[in-house]
Order: sequence, then structure tokens, then C-alpha cells
Amino acid sequence: MKKILVTGGLGFIGSHTVVELQNEGYEVLIIDNLSNTSIDVLDQIESITGIKPTYVNIDLRVQKDVKQFFDTHEVDGVIHFAAYKAVGESVSKPLEYYQNNLNTLVYLLGELTARNIDNFIFSSSCTVYGQADQLPITESAPVKPAESPYGYSKQVGEILIRDTCKALGLNAIALRYFNPIGAHPSIKIGELPLGVPQNLIPFITQTAAGMRKELSVFGDDYPTVDGTAVRDYIHVVDLAKAHIAALGRLLQKENKTNYEFFNIGTGKGSSVLEVIKAFEKASGFPLNYKIVGRREGDITAAYADTTLANKELKWKTELSLDEALDSAWKWQQAQK
Ligand code: WQD
Repeated sequence: MKKILVTGGLGFIGSHTVVELQNEGYEVLIIDNLSNTSIDVLDQIESITGIKPTYVNIDLRVQKDVKQFFDTHEVDGVIHFAAYKAVGESVSKPLEYYQNNLNTLVYLLGELTARNIDNFIFSSSCTVYGQADQLPITESAPVKPAESPYGYSKQVGEILIRDTCKALGLNAIALRYFNPIGAHPSIKIGELPLGVPQNLIPFITQTAAGMRKELSVFGDDYPTVDGTAVRDYIHVVDLAKAHIAALGRLLQKENKTNYEFFNIGTGKGSSVLEVIKAFEKASGFPLNYKIVGRREGDITAAYADTTLANKELKWKTELSLDEALDSAWKWQQAQK
């Protein structure tokens, strides 16, 4: 049984990927310092799959602890989620973001290459494109100057990996996520935003649950179908399955070059108002919202061209926006 290390494996996307890895028969080890999640997720994963992953509480910023982990554990591959991801927060805390998102990656890559551990999957983001000139966005779209330290940390992360693959023979795939949303159909794992949610869907569900007074829609003066910004909202379970496909490509040595990257989205754009309307259908009642000014750093529109992932990873989304919103609402209602 192949052993896969999942860093950030108790987080939103990490936990859903751990479930899919176990479903595929992989043995999973998780490193998570619980800085943005809860240890309860470990039991919830076990309650879904019946298998409790090995869990180690390590802070990847402590290089000696990263080395110590690999001195004591054998792995066949690594899926690296552990990072800070709040765009707005990164603008006010750049050093924390560069330390946590980049130092950790350097330490991790150092251990993998020192021990000839191949097969590295990196959690990247459509944020690397900024506002693309053409839509849908293909992998050949230029990477533009980042609008935030978070976005820059993903761009630099990809370059760190690319150069390591070139120089030291690592095989890696970066997955550029669009907007992950929703929850596992078991409603035992989902998005657990700490504090006031930055992202649209958790803010919508918390508003519908009465935890927030109303949703502020950041701008309705964009050049889009209804003036509100457009994004590609992908069900987190479909996103998790893309990692299984990417891992299989590396383990079966089907990769064409030793560093590849793929856009992981639905290929469909939805505006904020279209998402609100779809959510109201899922919940069965109107959502409280008001239109306010644009949010600093937001782009007008982003949605993926998924041709390359469909073809090379033999992966495509199977779940709809409605199913994602329905699961997000059910997950919210299940919270204490
Ligand atoms: C979506 C849309 C907002 C909140 C994020 C991450 C990015 C990547 C993808 C990880 C935008 C609008 C939001 C609110 C609103 N994730 N909005 N009111 O900014 O597209 O990107 O997910 O890699 O790194 O930042 O997602 O959910 O914040 O915003 O109107 O209260 O919803 O303006 O148009 P975003 P988001």
C-alpha cells in the first residue's frame, strides 16, 4: 500500500483529499499544526472512511522537526496543502505569509530531494493569473504580477518547485485551484472558517444561518452579465479527486515533464448574484444582502479552461454548483 503524506491534511481541501486517498486504498499520514482547523476533523475523517490516518502535529516552519519526521517515516509521495490562504490578511502580514508559505516549502523540498522521495503535488491557485487577458483561462495564460503576498507566495512556490525538479530530478504537479466550495456529502467535514469568513460561500451560509446580519456584495459595476464579479466555483470533492488523478499520473510515471501544472475548475463562471440566486433555491428562502463598493484587489472574472486537466489527468468535475451550495448549506446547518 503506497504511503502518502498530506500536509495541512486536517484543513478544508486537505481533509476532503485524505478521504478520497483512503477510498483509493492509499495509507495516509497527516501533518497539521492546527493553526487553521480543529483536531476533531481527524475523527470525522475516520467516521467517513473507517480508517484513522496517522497524524503528527508538526509546524513545518521548524526545519529540524521536518527533518525528524522524514527520519522516522517512509512515504511514497507528498500532497502539500499547509499554507496560509487569506488574500486580505496577507497584505497586512506579508512576513508571516512568506515564512509560512515559502520557508516550509524549502524545508520540505530539501528533505524530499535528500531522500529521493518523488511525487510531489502542490496546492496552487488561479490567483497566479491575476486578471487574465482571455477567458476561459488556459495554463498558457501569463502569470501576472501578484496583487497580494498570498498570490505572490503561490507564484514563488511554483518557481521553487520547478527549479528543484529541473536541478534535482523531483517529479511534481501544481494544481491551480479556482474557487473551492461545498462539503462532503456525509456532512461530516466541510469549510471551517475561523472568525469572520473572507470567502463568499461561508459568508452566505453564515448569513442564512443568522450568524451574520447580511452579506455585502462587493461591487455591481463590473463589466459582467449583472455587474457582479464572476468566479469558477468548484465542489471541494471534485477538487479532491483531481489530486488523486494527479498522484496517479506521477506514481505511474505518466507525466510528460518533471514539472507540470493544471487548472482545476468547472470551466463555468458564475456571478455573485447568480450564486446568491442559486443559494436561495437551495435554502428555500431569500438571502439578506446589500450591494457595497468593490473589494480592494478583486478581479472582474476568472474561470478555467479545463481541457488540459480533462485530457492529461483524465479528470473532470462531476458535481454542479447547486450540489455544492446544497452541501455547503447542509454543512452550515450541522454546525453547533
Ligand atoms: C469570491 C467573489 C468577491 C465575499 C479566493 C482566494 C483565492 C483562491 C480562490 C485559494 C468575489 C465576492 C466575497 C463577500 C463578496 N483560493 N465576495 N462578498 O477572492 O475569488 O479568491 O478563492 O487559493 O486565493 O482569495 O474568493 O470567495 O473571497 O470571493 O461579494 O463577503 O465573491 O468580491 O467576487 P476569491 P472569495
